[in-house]
Amino acid sequence: MTTPEWVAREQAALMTNYRRQPVMFTHGDGASLFDAEGRRYVDCMAGISMINVGHCHPEVVAAIQDQAARLINVSNLYYTEPMLELAEWIRDHSMGGRVFFCNSGAEANEAALKLARKYGGPSRPEVVALNQGFHGRTYGALTLTGQPDKQTAFTPLVPDIHHVDRDDLEALEAAVGPRTCAVWIEIIQGEVGVHPISREMLRLARELCDRHGALLVVDEVQTGLSRTGPLFAYQEVDITPDVMCLAKSLGGGVPIGAITARPEIDAVFVPGDHGSTFAGGPLACAAALASCRVLGDSGLQDSVRRKGERLRTGLNALVETGLVREVRGRGLMCGIDLPVARAAEVTARMLEAGYLINNTSAETLRFLPPLVIDESDLDGLVAALGTVLAAQ
Ligand SMILES: Cc1ncc(COP(=O)(O)O)c(C=O)c1O
Repeated sequence: MTTPEWVAREQAALMTNYRRQPVMFTHGDGASLFDAEGRRYVDCMAGISMINVGHCHPEVVAAIQDQAARLINVSNLYYTEPMLELAEWIRDHSMGGRVFFCNSGAEANEAALKLARKYGGPSRPEVVALNQGFHGRTYGALTLTGQPDKQTAFTPLVPDIHHVDRDDLEALEAAVGPRTCAVWIEIIQGEVGVHPISREMLRLARELCDRHGALLVVDEVQTGLSRTGPLFAYQEVDITPDVMCLAKSLGGGVPIGAITARPEIDAVFVPGDHGSTFAGGPLACAAALASCRVLGDSGLQDSVRRKGERLRTGLNALVETGLVREVRGRGLMCGIDLPVARAAEVTARMLEAGYLINNTSAETLRFLPPLVIDESDLDGLVAALGTVLAAQ
């Protein structure tokens, strides 16, 4: 295959930090993406769980068009209605506390880190997070991310952030103490290949935070907004966070992030503590409100559970044939391990077959389709995967 001319343009104009797949999209609809020749691809990634509502959802498009024609942004020096409505929606659908807006998942984690450090004060600077977690690429978020391969080139990092293995209860118990201001956790570690954290570990994290007066910060940037079935993944595992981080699908594809904290601690920030020029702007908030109203629908959430079961049943059949080693996940957040290290090649073959998937390591594939995907497309994904894996 000849290299498309846009790859040469990329190499001449863009920094070299991404490994893009060789496809350029021009439009999308639901779980379908199309290239300039009109070829259809089944999107099984939703922009890394960033567009759970699906591409160009009519209600999100209408909200953006309407808001863009009236007022795009005005900064946090003033009030706008979409900002208030979205904050109320998040508050009323989660822990009942107030909201801070930002522009991305990394920024949500940065805001939560500042909140936790201020809450803890100088005698409680320590944070405990999990190895293999992922919280973003800016300095605080990168330090919370327990993955040395992403950190080493950028040291020194932020001090007093420690990591324990995701299922090591003893290590967690030993790490959390009177100097801890927060324990940081994803309900399911997504970026590393979809690893659910055990109920015991989650319960222990909650208990230790209660015992030592630390904050339990739950990063729902990837698991949130009905990805796993419930609106937020914590709602199905019997723990309540003190602070929750959101981004990705909050905006229906438009950049926006948020944190919310339970009522007793949502007054930690005072004017001057933290802020962002763009954040909470009316365009992003109008898109987010439309997206949240779609994703908050219990019928859609039931369908996510049903479709997730169907996907996993199909993938488990590939385990029986020996083509797949393990299947993990909840709802439409799914990861599989292959018996051999060929995940990158399988991702490339699946693209040729018209399916967008993602390899998180040499052996692991991840699927995060838009929640509106048809069951026939999920069946097609499993069938195409079986064919690609069977062809050595
Ligand atoms: C759990 C989690 N937290 C934070 C982030 C960072 O989000 P962003 O890329 O918007 O900064 C991600 C991104 O994948 C994520 O999965």
